[in-house]
Amino acid sequence: MNVSSESRSPAVQTLRWTGDRLELIDQRALPSRFQYLNCSNAAEVAKAVRDMVVRGAPAIGCAAAFGIALEALNCAALPRSEFDSRLAEAFEVLAGSRPTAVNLFWALSRMKRMSAAVAARSTAEAAQALVGEAQRIYGEDIEINRAIGHAGAALVPDGACIMTHCNAGALATAGHGTALGVIRSARDEGKQVTVIANETRPFLQGARLTAWELVQERIPVTLITDSMAGHMMQRGMVDLVIVGADRIAANGDVANKIGTYPVAVLAARHRIPFYVAAPLSTIDLAVPEGSAIPIEERGADEVTGYGGIRWAPVGVEVANPAFDVTPAELVTAIITERGVTPAPDSAKMRALFES
Ligand code: MRU
Repeated sequence: MNVSSESRSPAVQTLRWTGDRLELIDQRALPSRFQYLNCSNAAEVAKAVRDMVVRGAPAIGCAAAFGIALEALNCAALPRSEFDSRLAEAFEVLAGSRPTAVNLFWALSRMKRMSAAVAARSTAEAAQALVGEAQRIYGEDIEINRAIGHAGAALVPDGACIMTHCNAGALATAGHGTALGVIRSARDEGKQVTVIANETRPFLQGARLTAWELVQERIPVTLITDSMAGHMMQRGMVDLVIVGADRIAANGDVANKIGTYPVAVLAARHRIPFYVAAPLSTIDLAVPEGSAIPIEERGADEVTGYGGIRWAPVGVEVANPAFDVTPAELVTAIITERGVTPAPDSAKMRALFES
């Protein structure tokens, strides 16, 4: 696939680069309010990632890249040694923002390689090179998602009802989306598709974000609570499942939003295809299997209530793992910018990087 950095502007601009700041759709406020939050340095970007202003694996990778670019621009007039130490701090603060989605670390590695490549140049030139690299990561992500969408659309029969979990849409990427990208592409190719969006407890990315994106685009969507997924499958109302991923291990195990694993188990029980759509930057060959993927534990307040309303008693113990791991054996195929990989395993995952 040829990836160009010149991309059509996405319909939903999750991230906007203005030249001296990064504007992010504040996803905490959706769907009630549509507003952007501005970031002017790496620490502000890291906070926005941690606080879920921007979320979704590819989107947080793009945000982190722009965080480094911002810091470099802010330090462009400093002597080289100060520039380097400020940049090293920026890499650290951004790497500490969220642990599971590997795209964050992938994007930071790319920025580090660019920083090393321009180490002999002036700090002003280095800053411009880092801005350029962040813009390339962003532009490439949109193109990659369109390629994923195109490859995945071939798996979607006309008239299909597709279940998805969490939000792997334009809001979770630079644009188009991965799982929702496949759905968008199928629709763009003239297929009639309908979507069942699982609400995705506890942070409600399905109810708030996926439902919002699909309503905006007039793609028919039915919202259900997570506990309704089995019933819908048992009644023959789901033709296939497509989800995104935060990290795919070397053996094809998939970490994605909490609640994905039970959906995959249900899909297997009902012989419904379970597809994972993700860019190669989500595959982490350094992690041998899913059990080694770090799972983020988020705050108890996300489980004890929502939006300022508390429903659980004070004093109750709470667990809040933000992701779970679906074993490769439950994955019908992984869809990447390289095409469709059925029945993923270690050899097939490695081969994706060799072709
Ligand atoms: O906690 P979040 O909202 O960042 O989790 C997002 C997901 O789990 C998505 O499914 C995944 O990042 C893929 S986004 C294309």
